Amino acid sequence: MSARSRGRIAQVHPPVGPEPHAPAPGRFITFEGGEGAGKSTQVRRLRDRLAGMGLDALMTREPGGSTGAEIVRHLILSGAAKPLGPLAEAALFAAARADHLDATIRPALSRGAWVVCDRFADSTRVYQGVLGDLDLRLIEALEAVTVGDTRPDLTLVLDLPAEEGLTRAAARSGAGADRFEREGLSFHRRLRDAFRELAEREPERCVLIDARADADTVAEAVWNAVEARLRPGRTDGAAS
Ligand SMILES: Nc1ncnc2c1ncn2[C@@H]1O[C@H](COP(=O)(O)OP(=O)(O)OP(=O)(O)O)[C@@H](O)[C@H]1O
Ligand SMILES: [Mg+2]
Repeated sequence: MSARSRGRIAQVHPPVGPEPHAPAPGRFITFEGGEGAGKSTQVRRLRDRLAGMGLDALMTREPGGSTGAEIVRHLILSGAAKPLGPLAEAALFAAARADHLDATIRPALSRGAWVVCDRFADSTRVYQGVLGDLDLRLIEALEAVTVGDTRPDLTLVLDLPAEEGLTRAAARSGAGADRFEREGLSFHRRLRDAFRELAEREPERCVLIDARADADTVAEAVWNAVEARLRPGRTDGAAS
């Protein structure tokens, strides 16, 4: 099933039938998880593996992934918007996401590409919804107008103890830690729990990946999940 053929918005707008020579629908894969869990590492590896099979594969990230959204990324990750509170941050994420979807993700899916995205709407649910204590109805409303029916076909949730993730992130970022990396250990423990709960709640979309192993082993677990769920390389478009 394509990302564009299901979901709430599809029920609101009149259905649009496939054109006779429309390209095969793309696939939308997102990576989620705490700081330093290995998302960016695995996004790149998966993109490279898909591209190595001759597939049109695009790597992108949130916040960001389009010219407008990258400007908003700086505003969020610098910490400049933090004093405004989780509602303002959620609104900024939504604005960035809308631009990212319109400028990057939807055009790629329309041409049949495999889009591999580093964080997406689940991060807003967890960071601003669970940890920021924002009303879930507000998060869902923002998601409905930004994401609409462009929901991920598969979400890989990288699971790692908070301490290990922070150690990895610190080794990488040093003094240049971003707004969320600067939060304390209890924040990151709650973050991990929230991502695990999210994966448990939506097993048809999400796969929890043990991210404690070395990058090669994690990449293999990711690939097994992608193969089992989306079957890259099959030409009949079948996905379980
Ligand atoms: N499986 C792994 N084992 C050990 N180190 C890893 C592993 N995967 C990635 N790393 C290293 O840990 C650091 C964080 O990885 P990466 O940037 O991919 O994580 P991330 O989830 O994207 O982090 P962030 O949430 O901060 O964006 C990097 O220095 C990376 O090289
Ligand atoms: Mg990253």
